Amino acid sequence: MAKADIKKDGSSSSWKTLCDVDDLKAGSTASFIVDGKALCLVRTNDNFYCIDDTCSHEDYPLSSGDVDVAACEIECSMHGSVFSLLTGEPQNFPATKPVDVYQVQMVGQEVQVLI
Ligand code: FES
Repeated sequence: MAKADIKKDGSSSSWKTLCDVDDLKAGSTASFIVDGKALCLVRTNDNFYCIDDTCSHEDYPLSSGDVDVAACEIECSMHGSVFSLLTGEPQNFPATKPVDVYQVQMVGQEVQVLI
């Protein structure tokens, strides 16, 4: 049974499988809809990160952006704001608000997100 956590609004979150580890190459992204939320999964080298797939500037999909593996960041392809994959914080304008970041784990070959 998947581990569940209680959210602030009283609903529960649980680990959801997004894909297999080998489905993404280093430096690539994939988009998923989970529980009605658009998620952007990013692979750096051996790590995976999951953030909202909606730029906080103008609702553009971040999964279409360029990944900086070394800096652990993704650049929105619409206007160039760069977001930390660790914190979701924008590193430059025009975006001024962070995007949500989700916990990721690997179980065997599965990449899972807590949502
Ligand atoms: S839509 Fe992403 S920086 Fe403008």
